[in-house]
Amino acid sequence: MTKILVLNGPNLNMLGKREPALYGKETLDDVIQGLRERAGTLGVELEHVQSNEEGVLVSQILASREKFDGIILNPAAYTHTSVALRDALQAVTVPCVEVHLTNTAAREEFRHVSLTAGACLGQIMGFGAMGYHLALIGLVQYLKSGRGPG
Ligand code: DQA
Repeated sequence: MTKILVLNGPNLNMLGKREPALYGKETLDDVIQGLRERAGTLGVELEHVQSNEEGVLVSQILASREKFDGIILNPAAYTHTSVALRDALQAVTVPCVEVHLTNTAAREEFRHVSLTAGACLGQIMGFGAMGYHLALIGLVQYLKSGRGPG
């Protein structure tokens, strides 16, 4: 069965409590629960990891090479700073879709640059939790079309 790793970066464990006007009232558990239901309808398996530590996220990406067909990644603040995450994505070549709850292009200037997006298949932002669903649908379609591994 197709296996997808959902990887969430720093402070996303605070969803629901963290700036709800910006990030919504749903908790991360709520978001992942909804995404698991979507995965069920698409016939794929999901594994979810959230970490506040850059090194843990890097290690998860590197280990995904053996275990996963695709990655859905919200690198959160590391989007704008992490050469290490970008290098990890380039090292494994597992297709990755970058997700942001908010439209980072419409926010502070330091959020306009994504160091990680260039190592991804694509990027979805500004649709809140729905972005994870759109990423999953796109990624599964991409894998099915034979344009990727798995
Ligand atoms: C975010 C956007 C980032 O700029 C921010 O640091 C986050 C969340 C988003 O999902 O909108 O933590 O990745």
